[in-house]
Amino acid sequence: MDTSNILPLRIGGRIKSSPNGSRTMHMHNPKRDLDSASIKVELFLEDPEGLTGTDQCEWDLLAVEGESILELAVRSGIQIEHSCGGVCACSTCHVYVEDGDEFVSEADEDEEDRVEEAPGLQINSRLSCQCVLHGDGPVKVRVPSWNRNAVKEVPH
Ligand code: FES
Repeated sequence: MDTSNILPLRIGGRIKSSPNGSRTMHMHNPKRDLDSASIKVELFLEDPEGLTGTDQCEWDLLAVEGESILELAVRSGIQIEHSCGGVCACSTCHVYVEDGDEFVSEADEDEEDRVEEAPGLQINSRLSCQCVLHGDGPVKVRVPSWNRNAVKEVPH
């Protein structure tokens, strides 16, 4: 059975909620109309072999309105780490948005708190699972080579 599309309900003891009570998760939405993908996103992979099994560093992709950078990458075969399944409960999906940040959602307080735990923090650091794309782009994103699992263990 292919379990790649199954998301955890609760990881690390923390699920992010919006004011209306829904969790902020931007992964594997089956309702997306991929034919409408028009937002230009350029991904630069520092470790293409580790993320794709190829040596292709630069990827020119088209995203759907409302799609996250992580969701776009994963459906394009780029396996950015996302240990918590895209619910802002780890920092393994850390990327740098190098250009076009007006075409991604602003980081909220939960994301800012979480991304501070990522190694190599920079002013343009974002969690790719929380970066929702809109408009036309282009958006330029660098995926660092040293992603690591930063999920905090919670005692039972
Ligand atoms: Fe865990 Fe993005 S996948 S914070």
